Amino acid sequence: MLTAWETSLQRVSRERIDQPLILHGLRGMGKTVLLAEFRRRALKRNWLVAKAEASIGSKLRDLLGESLYEPLLEISRPSAGKRALQALKTALSFKASYDMTGAWSFGVDLSDSTGGGADTGDLNTDIRLVIRDVSAAAGEDNVGLAVLIDEAQDLSTEDLTTLCAVAHEAVQSGWPVLIALAGLPSLPQILAEAKSYAERFRYMQITSLDEAAAIDALQDPAAEEGVDWEPYALAAAVEGAGRYPFFLQQIGHETWEAAPKSPITVADVEVGIARGSAALDNGFFRVRWDRATPGERNYLRAMKLAGNATIASSEVASSLGKKAAQVSTVRDRLISKGLIYAPEHGLLAYTVPGMAAFIDRQTLE
Ligand SMILES: Nc1ncnc2c1ncn2[C@@H]1O[C@H](COP(=O)(O)OP(=O)(O)OP(=O)(O)O)[C@@H](O)[C@H]1O
Ligand SMILES: [Mg+2]
Repeated sequence: MLTAWETSLQRVSRERIDQPLILHGLRGMGKTVLLAEFRRRALKRNWLVAKAEASIGSKLRDLLGESLYEPLLEISRPSAGKRALQALKTALSFKASYDMTGAWSFGVDLSDSTGGGADTGDLNTDIRLVIRDVSAAAGEDNVGLAVLIDEAQDLSTEDLTTLCAVAHEAVQSGWPVLIALAGLPSLPQILAEAKSYAERFRYMQITSLDEAAAIDALQDPAAEEGVDWEPYALAAAVEGAGRYPFFLQQIGHETWEAAPKSPITVADVEVGIARGSAALDNGFFRVRWDRATPGERNYLRAMKLAGNATIASSEVASSLGKKAAQVSTVRDRLISKGLIYAPEHGLLAYTVPGMAAFIDRQTLE
């Protein structure tokens, strides 16, 4: 993933624009951490970076506008080139398109510059103009504009369609823009439904770590403090966490707290797993469970039949003694709450690893 991003950053500098990168995976797999690393690497090359996190009901117009403010401040120097001034003027009009109250001030005189017009109210036109002009300003400095959006599955279809179309045009026209979206496993399908260009995007599934990476994730931070792990203790912690980044983090933390001295032992890991799992139950899983209504919990329980794998929605319905159409509203609500997703048409799975086992631990409520 990081290599793909680095390569793309280099390619854009040579005026070869890459397709958007789409990171998708279950909760707690490390997508946000990756996106933050993308940002860091782009900034290191002096790129302009707009990073936003979507949530249900948020609008691309506002997200993009607000996330552009910082990079725009960056280019609003007294020595700003022609394209930078144009970008600022266009961005000001874009800001006015969603926020009538507060105007940005960049402290530069824009009266003689070209630009503006990103306030037509037509989403596609406005986003296209602002991306075109801000990326041109970046290009003037021989860098590019990175647009990073987390939780992208929560964007509306209209917003995603617009993003796809603008990404397509950026590639076609050679604007120095790189887009990366991160989201739940449902994201590829949502994009596919939004616009046909999405089939050209580069999709990367973020899965649990391999054995070596999981071991490193536990060993390296300890080694930095001069603490060792007994080999069996490491293996037990990796297995206890199922190699999921978030679980490794929790179990690693609790084991660290429980260990009286170096090296960390199997006995320390046993305490760490017990406390880490309890912390996951009371946090990670609990917040999701609490968000579900009793009817939705029944549905989640019925899905448990499949363990962590996928199950046909028709099978869930029949195990609830209902017809598929009778429970489709519950299913759709669970999808929009981000608790489950449809890996393929007619199939369902949990968005968090280990959900089935958690449900098993719940007494009937
Ligand atoms: N490669 C990694 N090695 C070790 N730990 C990691 C790695 N990637 C992420 N983590 C840890 O796992 C946890 C979850 O990561 P992150 O928040 O990025 O997941 P996410 O995929 O964005 O989850 P969500 O869908 O819930 O937003 C974090 O606490 C992070 O520190
Ligand atoms: Mg995240």
